[in-house]
Amino acid sequence: MGGSSRRAHPTTHVGLLLLVVFAAALAVTTLTCVDAGVTSAYRRQLLASVDMPLDSNVFRVPPGRNAPQQVHITQGDLEGSAVIVSWTTADEPGSSKVLYGTSKDKLNKSAKGSYTRYQFYNYTSGYIHHCVLKDLMYDTTYYYTVGVGQTERQFWFKSPPKVGPDVPYTFGLIGDLGQTYDSNITLSHYDSNSNSGALLFVGDLSYADDYPFHDNVRWDTWSRFIERSAAYQPWIWTVGNHEIDFAPEIGETEPFKPFLHRFPTPYKASNSTAPFWYSIKRASAHIIVLASYSAYGKYTPQYQWLQTELAKVNRTVTPWLIVLMHSPWYNSYNYHYMEGETMRVQFESWFVQYKVDVVFAGHVHAYERSHRISNIAYNITNAKCTPVSDQSAPVYITIGDGGNIEGLANNMTEPQPSYSAFREASFGHAIFEIKNKTHAYYSWHRNQDGNAVAADTMWFTNRYWNPTDDSK
Ligand SMILES: [Fe+2]
Repeated sequence: MGGSSRRAHPTTHVGLLLLVVFAAALAVTTLTCVDAGVTSAYRRQLLASVDMPLDSNVFRVPPGRNAPQQVHITQGDLEGSAVIVSWTTADEPGSSKVLYGTSKDKLNKSAKGSYTRYQFYNYTSGYIHHCVLKDLMYDTTYYYTVGVGQTERQFWFKSPPKVGPDVPYTFGLIGDLGQTYDSNITLSHYDSNSNSGALLFVGDLSYADDYPFHDNVRWDTWSRFIERSAAYQPWIWTVGNHEIDFAPEIGETEPFKPFLHRFPTPYKASNSTAPFWYSIKRASAHIIVLASYSAYGKYTPQYQWLQTELAKVNRTVTPWLIVLMHSPWYNSYNYHYMEGETMRVQFESWFVQYKVDVVFAGHVHAYERSHRISNIAYNITNAKCTPVSDQSAPVYITIGDGGNIEGLANNMTEPQPSYSAFREASFGHAIFEIKNKTHAYYSWHRNQDGNAVAADTMWFTNRYWNPTDDSK
């Protein structure tokens, strides 16, 4: 066999030459025919991203005896008629009760939660309370008070409209936020820019694990930092690698320990068996949250759950199918290259089969939007390993540009792959505005711009109800 292969060399060389000429011609044709991607010409001053010091205003502990701090909410059930309220008290447990109602001055309902604590190396947490408010009316502003009987603090949120096919709703998108001066700009920009009802967070929250011994004080500061948004609208959590907090060198071998104590998810409502992968319905969207750092191979709990979950999605009720994950499947930056590949191999054909509208990921600290493409034809032996245009496929968006301490990912592969529609290494956030069951307006906002400016936009047409080519 070796001999025959050696004899074939001269013809192989000629064949190879022809192949190269053909490929070059094809590349030229492709470049002229296909809608080439944009690598943004925007250039920003690249400074190191620095965490805000512990005495920063945004980390201030609220005044008053044992005052509740780190207040945040998330969706508490499958369809948005429940909310989980979480907060921490530092000195003593205090009350786990939440008083709430539709009038600021008359909180005529109450719910009782519970608290937990944890230790991480030489750190001991405060008393971390979680309380579920159930049977909320839809599309209604609720006021709620925590710290009952001691230092009371009041907040509010608006429950989502009842789930239905033409319900407009706006989601915000932030990933890889951290707690630097840039993170602060991202959050302020998001707060002032949008009228979104909920934030879809694609993982990597505090970056406490970048500190010696994963200094969990930085989990506390982060949770105080985000309170100004997360106490007023649900943040929908995806886990990233910075939530793993696996540190056997200091005896910490329970993955996700701080995250699990601090940020509950409503996973049981969607029949998930772990907090890291789950789904919610909200307005006209069915949102599936996947876990890049939990097993997803065939036969695993996450694999089985997703298989069942996708079959349950009813586009007549929730036309928009959105997936969140941390590690992107399509990424043309020279960071975290191929880290999402095994999950892509496992699940991509399902995303095409079930016509997922959009996939949001983080992890790469930059911004990128893909065309609708898939790469599911490859089967080891056929060499069909190039992504192809596919109108049944999602758009893949990397929004890992929240502004964390690790800085921007500004090194891109060149040339820009044909599947990549737009990419830019800037910090920012995005907004996904569902208008009705056929159209949604998407915009990405870099931190250097004012509120009126969107650096990248796209009108999405729904893959189930109106699957037109929306790439142009
Ligand atoms: Fe990450």
